[in-house]
Amino acid sequence: MQQVTRMTNIKIAPSILAADFTRLDDEIKDVLAAGADYIHIDVMDGQFVPNISIGVPEVRSIRNAFPEVFLDVHLMIVQPLKFVEAFAKAGASHITVHLESDAPENITAALSLARDMGVRTGLSVKPATPATALERWLKDLDMVLVMTVEPGFGAQRFMAEQLPKITAIRRRLDQVNPACDVEVDGGINPATAPAVAAAGANVLVAGSAIFGHEDYSAVIRQLRGR
Ligand code: DX5
Ligand code: ZN
Repeated sequence: MQQVTRMTNIKIAPSILAADFTRLDDEIKDVLAAGADYIHIDVMDGQFVPNISIGVPEVRSIRNAFPEVFLDVHLMIVQPLKFVEAFAKAGASHITVHLESDAPENITAALSLARDMGVRTGLSVKPATPATALERWLKDLDMVLVMTVEPGFGAQRFMAEQLPKITAIRRRLDQVNPACDVEVDGGINPATAPAVAAAGANVLVAGSAIFGHEDYSAVIRQLRGR
C-alpha cells in the first residue's frame, strides 16, 4: 500500500541533456505534453565532473519561452556559491548543489542565498558520499538528490547499491523534514523506477530513457509505474 501511494505521487523530471538541442523548444513542449512535471537542467563545468554541458543563457532562454514551467537546475560545478545568483535571476525554480563541490560553510551559504532569492533548494550526493554526510542540512532542504550514477554523463548504468542510501535518507527526512523530496538521477528507466520508488524516491530524473524513446507519454507513464 505504501508503495502504491508513493508511485501515484511520483514526479517525473526529464533531463534535457539527452534532448535534441537543435529542437529544444519542441522537445520541452513534447515532454510537458507527455506529462513531465519538471524540466531537469544539468549544468557541468568540466571541473566538478569531467564534462561540460549548458549554463545560465540556456536557463534564461527556457524560462522566457516557458514562463510557468518548473526548472529543476542541477549544478555539477565547483564553488556553486559564485553562480547561485545568476541561475536564480535566469529563472531557476529550484537549484541543487553538490555536497562535495565546496567546503561545508560555502555549501550552507549557497543554499541560503538561493532560499533568500526565492528559489527552492536541493543538496546532492555522489555515489561514494554516505547519507550521514547530509545531516546538518537536512531540516532546511526542499529536496535531496541521490545520484544513482557517477555525475557527468547521461546513459550510464543504474547503481542498485545506492538503494539503501535512498531509504536511509527518506527515513531520516521523515523524522526531521517530512515535506522534503527525494530525487534520483542516473540510469532511471521503466525497469529501475519501481525499485527507487519503493526505496523512497519521489522525483525521478530520466534523460536517455525519455528522449531516447519514440513515445514520451508511454515512457513517462511507465516511469510512474502505470
Ligand atoms: C548525469 C546527469 C543526469 C543525466 C541522466 O550527471 O546529472 O541528469 O542526464 O541521464 P540518464 O537518465 O540517461 O542516466
Ligand atoms: Zn542531473
